[in-house]
Amino acid sequence: MPIHQSPVSRRQFLRCSAGIVGGLVISTRVQGAGPSDSTSFALLSDTHIPSSPDTVAHDVNMTSNLRQVVREVLAWQQQPAGVIVTGDCAYLKGLPEDYANFASTIQPVTASGLPLHLMTGNHDHRGAMVEALTVQSARNPLVQSRFVSILETPQANLFLLDSLTQTNVVTGELGDMQRNWLTQALQSRQDKPAVVVVHHNLQLTPPAEGKRITGLADSLAFLELLKSHRHVKAYIFGHTHNWSLKQMDGLHLINLPPVAYVFGEGRPNGWVQATFHPQGLTLTLKTIDAQHPLNGKSHEIHWS
Ligand SMILES: [Fe+2]
Repeated sequence: MPIHQSPVSRRQFLRCSAGIVGGLVISTRVQGAGPSDSTSFALLSDTHIPSSPDTVAHDVNMTSNLRQVVREVLAWQQQPAGVIVTGDCAYLKGLPEDYANFASTIQPVTASGLPLHLMTGNHDHRGAMVEALTVQSARNPLVQSRFVSILETPQANLFLLDSLTQTNVVTGELGDMQRNWLTQALQSRQDKPAVVVVHHNLQLTPPAEGKRITGLADSLAFLELLKSHRHVKAYIFGHTHNWSLKQMDGLHLINLPPVAYVFGEGRPNGWVQATFHPQGLTLTLKTIDAQHPLNGKSHEIHWS
């Protein structure tokens, strides 16, 4: 499972389902005021927090960016059910000092009572993440050596997967065990739309000769799995540092922007407000640069 912090109350961790080998299944509810038929999350990705708050990369101070996002999340009137960080929490090598800075920068979120769900990316280190952050972990993981879990919300089930293979190596992979687990988990939860969340992107064509795979090494098998379950409506991921919304045969591909730096001039960095409703999802981009032309732009995602 990813790392989950739920400082308000352990009651939100409703059950560890014995039916799925002791893994963690988390039910969420909207806290405070807000539309009763919706659930909102703050979606963050690729924070790349370094050991020192002063470190700058690609002309961006990553710690400052995360501080800004934390302030904005806490000011969001919708009062989200949680904050999800889809990997690359640490700068490059998953150092304990990176996570110490991450923990202190994200601390206002947990102090405010918002559940925080941290996922792994290719620049993370599972052991160092667990060591540095207060953790509520399952004694028996759903998938050996991987952080996977399910967030049950009123409108959709979110399946958080783990695509980290080796720290600071760009390639991701889910692997047979995790894909088999996901198949079973999806089959046992067909009553609501399913949204699958992973750090890496799909890579459906082989890399150029001599180049590494930069996305999921098992993309084809994974996509086949997703398509074979019609209640899988969306795939949310980070990794590319390139905000985009696409569709593939009715499956929504939601590529989150980085909180940290972008790789293309003019591309937005920031975070995304996501509000689930019975027929889909509303996404609103919040950019670090308040003057960015895409700042505040909302998109309605309709389940097919
Ligand atoms: Fe990244």
